[in-house]
Amino acid sequence: MNHRRALRAAVTIAVTGALAAGMTMTLTSTASAGTTLRASAAEKGRYFGAAVATGKLSTSVYATILNREFNSVVAENEMKWDATEPQQGRFSYTGGDRLVSHAQANGMSVRGHALLWHQQQPGWAQGMSGSALRNAAINHVTQVATHFRGKIHSWDVVNEAFADGGSGGRRDSNLQRTGNDWIEAAFRAARAADPGAKLCYNDYNTDGINAKSTGIYNMVRDFKSRGVPIDCVGFQSHLGTSLAGDYQANLQRFADLGVDVQITELDVMTGGNQANIFGAVTRACMNVSRCTGITVWGVRDCDSWRGSDNALLFDCNGNKKAAYTNVLNALNAGPAIPTDPPTDPPTDPPTDPPTTPPPGTGGCSASVSLNSWTGGFVATVKVTAGSAGTNGWNVGVTLASGASVTNTWSATASGSTGTVRFTNVDYNGRLGAGQVTEFGFQGTGSGAGITPTCTAS
Ligand code: G3I
Repeated sequence: MNHRRALRAAVTIAVTGALAAGMTMTLTSTASAGTTLRASAAEKGRYFGAAVATGKLSTSVYATILNREFNSVVAENEMKWDATEPQQGRFSYTGGDRLVSHAQANGMSVRGHALLWHQQQPGWAQGMSGSALRNAAINHVTQVATHFRGKIHSWDVVNEAFADGGSGGRRDSNLQRTGNDWIEAAFRAARAADPGAKLCYNDYNTDGINAKSTGIYNMVRDFKSRGVPIDCVGFQSHLGTSLAGDYQANLQRFADLGVDVQITELDVMTGGNQANIFGAVTRACMNVSRCTGITVWGVRDCDSWRGSDNALLFDCNGNKKAAYTNVLNALNAGPAIPTDPPTDPPTDPPTDPPTTPPPGTGGCSASVSLNSWTGGFVATVKVTAGSAGTNGWNVGVTLASGASVTNTWSATASGSTGTVRFTNVDYNGRLGAGQVTEFGFQGTGSGAGITPTCTAS
C-alpha cells in the first residue's frame, strides 16, 4: 500500500467547515492548569503519548521533551512483525524491551503496535499463504503478546485491514486470503496471551463517518455481538488541512458500541489550520468519555515520517509550536472521564465527621473494571490520587471464596486468596493531585464482588 498516496486522498476528501464548528463547541469546563501534556491529560483520566524510535532516546533534546510531556509511548517500528520475528520462530525484542524499560522508568504506559499488519511483514511471511501463514500469524500474536504480557496498556492487534475507497470492505492481503476470520482469530489469541491488555483494531482514513469507518464499525458491532474480545478502536488521524465535521460523532458512535476509542497516530499537515486542527481533535477526544488517550506520531517535526509536512507539536529545535498550546489548552478545558460510581454506598453515614481522618482517608481512591469468563477474570484497577497526591499507595481487595490471583502487573501483590493487597511499583507510586494510574491482576474463579479500597502514603 502506498500510504502517502492514501494520505493525500484522505486530505483531499476531508470535509471542510467542520473545524470551525468544532472550535465553537461549548465545553463543560473543569478548572485545571496542567502545564505539560502528560499532567493535563492525566488530570482528566487520560494519557498523552508519542511514537518513539528508541535510537533517539539517547538524544537529549528528544528525551527531555518525551519525558516531560508524555505519559505513554508506542514503538514507531520496533514491535512490528519484521522487527520482532525476523526469521520464523526466532524472536527479537531488543527495541521493544528498551522502550518498555524507558516507559517504566518514567511513569509511562505503553501502546503495542502492531501484532498483524499487511505491511512490514518479514520476508519469510510475505512469501507464505494459506494455513501455513495463518498458523505463523497466530503464533506470532501469541509469542509477542506473551513476551510483553502485563506491560502493554493497549495492543493494536490488527492494523489497517480495511480497504480505502467506497467499498467498506476488507483490504486484499496475504492475511485476508487466509480467510475472513483471521482478524477475530488474532484477537482471541491476543486475549489468551495477555488478558490484561486492551485489544484494539487500528486504521487510517477513518476520520469521520465514511464507507471505510462504517465497514470497521460493522465489524466491531459484529464482534461485540458474538463475544469476540475487542476493547478499543484506534483512529490513526494522519490529517491534512481540514477536519471532517463528524470527527467527534464518529468516535462517539464507536464508543456507543461499548469499546474505548483512542487517537493513535495523530499528525497534521503544516499550514494555517494546523494548530486549530490539533486543538479540535483534542477537544473531540475530551468530549467523548470513552476516548481514553491521544498519541502523536513522533515528537519533533524532524522525527516525523511525513518529513517536510512539519506535522507535529515541536519544531526541530524542540520548541513548542502553536499546535502544542492549542492541545494543552484543550486538555485543560475538557471534562474528565467520569469515575465509576461507588458500588456500595454506606447505608448509615456518620453524622459527625471524624476530626482526625484515619490514615489514608482522602489520599486515594480505587475503582475496578472486570473482564470475566467462566472460571477466570482480569481486573483492571484505576488508582486516583486525592488532593494531596501520593508517595505510594496500597489497594486491598477481598476475593470471593475459591478465587485466587495468578498474575499481577504494575503492582506487587501480597497474598493470593482472601484479602489480597497490592502495592505500587517503583514507577507508579508517586502521583500528583488527581493523577491516575492503573494496575491489573488475573485470577481464577469468580471476580464477582471485588471492591477495592485504597490507602495512600
Ligand atoms: O531500519 C531501516 C534501515 O536499516 C535502512 O537503512 C533504511 C533504508 O530505507 O530503512 C530503515 O527502515 C525504515 C523504517 O521506517 C525505520 O526507519 C523503512 O525503510 C521504512 O519503510 C519505515 O517506515 C515506517 C512506516 O511505518 C513503514 O510502513 C515509518 O517509520 C513509520 O512511521 C510508519 O508508521 C506507520 C504505522 O506503523 C501505521 N500507520 C501509518 C504509519 C505511517 O506510515
